[in-house]
Amino acid sequence: PSSPTGRGNVLGFTGVPASLRDGIVVPPEYEWQLLYPWGTPTGVAGSMPAFAPDAGNSADDQAVQAGMHHDGMHFFALDASGDRGLLVMNHEYTDEQLLHTDGVKAGTAEKVRKSLHAMGVSVIEIRCTGQGWQQVRPSPFARRVHGNTPMRITGPAAGTPLMRTAANPAGDAVFGTFANCAMGVTPWGTYLTCEENFHGYFGGPKEAAQGATAAQRRYGTVAGSQWAEYWRFDERFDLSRHPNEPHRFGWVVEIDPFDPTAAPIKRTALGRKRQESATCTVARDGRLVVYMGDDSRFEYIYKFISREKVRPGTDAAARAANRHLLDDGTLHVARYDAGGRGRWLELVHGRDGLDAAHGFADQAEVLIHARLAGDVVGGTKMDRPEWIAIHPQSGEVYVTLTNNSQRGDAGKPAPDAANPRANNLFGGILRWREDGGDAASTGFAWDHFALAGDPAQPGSGARYPSGDADMFGAPDGLHFDRGGLLWIQTDLSGQVLGKPPYTSLGNNQMLCADPASGRIKRFLTGPNGCEITGCVVTPDRHTLFVNIQHPGEARDDGDTRHNSAWPDGTEPGSARPRSATLAIRRRDGGIVGT
Ligand code: FEO
Ligand code: CA
Ligand code: CA
Ligand code: CA
Repeated sequence: PSSPTGRGNVLGFTGVPASLRDGIVVPPEYEWQLLYPWGTPTGVAGSMPAFAPDAGNSADDQAVQAGMHHDGMHFFALDASGDRGLLVMNHEYTDEQLLHTDGVKAGTAEKVRKSLHAMGVSVIEIRCTGQGWQQVRPSPFARRVHGNTPMRITGPAAGTPLMRTAANPAGDAVFGTFANCAMGVTPWGTYLTCEENFHGYFGGPKEAAQGATAAQRRYGTVAGSQWAEYWRFDERFDLSRHPNEPHRFGWVVEIDPFDPTAAPIKRTALGRKRQESATCTVARDGRLVVYMGDDSRFEYIYKFISREKVRPGTDAAARAANRHLLDDGTLHVARYDAGGRGRWLELVHGRDGLDAAHGFADQAEVLIHARLAGDVVGGTKMDRPEWIAIHPQSGEVYVTLTNNSQRGDAGKPAPDAANPRANNLFGGILRWREDGGDAASTGFAWDHFALAGDPAQPGSGARYPSGDADMFGAPDGLHFDRGGLLWIQTDLSGQVLGKPPYTSLGNNQMLCADPASGRIKRFLTGPNGCEITGCVVTPDRHTLFVNIQHPGEARDDGDTRHNSAWPDGTEPGSARPRSATLAIRRRDGGIVGT
């Protein structure tokens, strides 16, 4: 017998083989259903435009429909049974070819608006019925936060010179959030969405790149290197005219999912980076601790510790009592030393070289240029830190280091203890235990949970925590359920799926690991070209929600064709592929993963 917090018979399901099949494969004891594919009405009363399969929906339609490229996600129960809840999820980026009827030809201001509206966050209401999970439409909670939604900026950097723009001279308000990748949940029941690859949307004429500062180069906000041409149609994205606008992106954004009228808030105390997760826990003394990854090659892992203690509870009163908690605290960067020890290094202006002589006028600049501050204090440059998950019983912290093909290249950092493989194509999972079991400690002990890849390949350096482990590559999404099972999701690039040396890994997938025994079993494989990302197990552990992102994205240079039509068509080319959420349950109604 198993209970929501008990162990039960872990990994009792039939594992699925690695596969290049263009569809969803789950164990025979399980079934899946589709929820909320791109373009589905979010459920805002009086505004529920149907999805147009020819991509004919307007920018205004898109602002009240599911965005593209579903990513990090959380389930907030609305009642004690957990049969009603809010599913809150990120929409990371757009596929411009799929988003517009005429594809990537000829940009327009309307297409830029539609693109901004297709990113951000969805809040949808769902309920579990005799027919499984269904979206409630309309719902008073239904909301789209997108790339033009008005929001506030708070914390030490708010209002400071680098945050001021012509449109907002006070430096305390901004339109929108986009590039929303992984996420976090606060103890008081708000959702944290993380702005990852924001840099690709800021551009300008190539000539403007000449005067780029070291900070602009480090963050990638350099004119001419943009991947979207927003700047031609919406001048706030023109770096040559509004150089401070990109300082207002790259943050953790707090959203109250229960109050659709509450403005989202960008929390600058947590530092600016290509923000991946913002995983929360509470220290021994009651302060909040937030772990964050910065997903680029050779970037850092961070930890924020609040000054004030968390006021317990998740009701409206608790959310109000904790509303300033993320605005005041200390940011740290991680250093992983040889021998399995590590230190958290403070990023505080005036200490350890973080001063005007090194280019930091004040704490605001330390936070806005957190990457440069990490260099000064000597953080460890990691192999692309993505999601962070905390074991619900032991408090051990796990992070995916997804890959780094440049590790050990000429002029790049060499392999080190924590990032031991040159040309690290497969990534791995590293974990640590804070000293004294206290998340606020300054020291910790770390080891590798897994070095991914195919152990049969000579020189792969792959190593798993037991002999009974299915192999994987490019781990990215990571979620612990209440029973301590670790759900691992992969994101090998669509360009390499099925090709050497990745052939034996098949399509992207999800696995379930039992850290207690080191066993790892493959649970799901996805359609061609997709990434599996975003995962939450309901509190009763009867449902697992998973996002399928960018099905069909082959991404061969210059080739914009899609190699899947999932979920609407069976043959590539027969329908526009759409990112979507899966609700996965055991056919016998039991606890998932056992
Ligand atoms: Fe959006 Fe780092 O994954
Ligand atoms: Ca990711
Ligand atoms: Ca990734
Ligand atoms: Ca990705």
